[in-house]
Amino acid sequence: MDHFTYLDGVMHAEDVPLPRIAAEVGTPVYVYSRATLERHARVFHEALAGVPDKLIAFAVKANPNLAVLKVLGAAGMGADVVSVGEMRRALAAGIAPDKIVFSGVGKTAAEMIAALEAGIGQFNIESEEEGVELAELAAARGMTAQCALRINPDVDAGTHDKISTGKADNKFGVPISEAGQIFGKLAGLPGVNLRGVAVHIGSQLADLAPLEAAFEKLGALVAALRGAGHTVTHVDLGGGLGVPYKVGEVLPEPAEYGAMVARVTKDWGVTLIFEPGRVIAGNAGVLLTRVVRVKRGIKDPFVIVDAAMNDLARPALYGAYHHFEAVEPPGARMTANIVGPICETGDTFAMGRECDALQAGDLAVFRTAGAYGATMASSYNSRGFVAEVLVDGDKFAVVADRIEAGAIMDAERVPEWLG
Ligand code: LLP
Repeated sequence: MDHFTYLDGVMHAEDVPLPRIAAEVGTPVYVYSRATLERHARVFHEALAGVPDKLIAFAVKANPNLAVLKVLGAAGMGADVVSVGEMRRALAAGIAPDKIVFSGVGKTAAEMIAALEAGIGQFNIESEEEGVELAELAAARGMTAQCALRINPDVDAGTHDKISTGKADNKFGVPISEAGQIFGKLAGLPGVNLRGVAVHIGSQLADLAPLEAAFEKLGALVAALRGAGHTVTHVDLGGGLGVPYKVGEVLPEPAEYGAMVARVTKDWGVTLIFEPGRVIAGNAGVLLTRVVRVKRGIKDPFVIVDAAMNDLARPALYGAYHHFEAVEPPGARMTANIVGPICETGDTFAMGRECDALQAGDLAVFRTAGAYGATMASSYNSRGFVAEVLVDGDKFAVVADRIEAGAIMDAERVPEWLG
């Protein structure tokens, strides 16, 4: 459930009519709802009521906006980060270092040092090589890094190939067949306290079965590690729960996920860590855009909007579906190709889509844009970076300025020797 609803025929974010935001901030603009973020954080937490000891760490990559992190931190969430940039954002938003988990296959030495110095709660080590390097860096500073070893369980998550992470040929984690041996080697190193294991098999999962299969494998591994004399106190189950993008689409509810987790892990006796991203932020945001013009097509007309693939990359990158609707639906419907202004055919949000009949100047939204939206923006075609707004009841604030193309150009230099 979200707080983007029609009131008197006009879409509102909570109590704020979207045309007001468009008038004051311009378009395109991402609009987030505080009440929706808080609701999703609460629902996820309640879904895991059956798990006694846990940390829910929001996957910052899904939406790293400082104001969003502030809302989620205040709702009790920690942070799953994959770069020092994300770590600094989580800290700046007031999230305690011990609630920060650092994942990612390519942590540089500088990043690991910064995270050690910040005193983060856990490093999810993705390879033997990384573990050895982290141990050296920590030991040289007289520190001990709290760590989990990320396991690649070789499970097909059944999602888009580009966001699947738990198959044997994906770059993430260590093969489960070698996990015992690598764990043994790393656990013996000074500088690390290898206290557990981690897994994350992919994103936008529409089925709980692959997650359950991965968790079962992890449970067996924990038992085997304990059998070999290791102490296992923490298991990180990653994120991945999908959200509905289409009207009427049915996905596993957080409560079903929580019940499955509680059932599978009931005898593990560990602190469980979760890294949800999309399920918290996805439906808490829309991308508000204005129709530039409607162009006749051979078959369907092209509705050309002022948002483009640089603002919302998911359709171009993954062929992803984002529901598109008018801010003030006229009643009439049309079938149209919905495209942005960028000069490549990939800048297409939808082909042959049935939608509200729209005209030049009308406002519309792409739904479910709160996760992996603004965070994946670029300045392609010298379009600048899109603005972001947070709504809270009847008020709103710009929480990320639009970065105009000119400001990006100002950061560039032409060397004198080019004349
Ligand atoms: N933990 C780790 C280690 C991850 O790699 C990810 C996402 C998450 C947690 C959060 O997953 P979520 O709960 O949001 O599914 N850009 C893509 C999604 C990439 C996800 C990458 N990893 C998209 O727009 O669909």
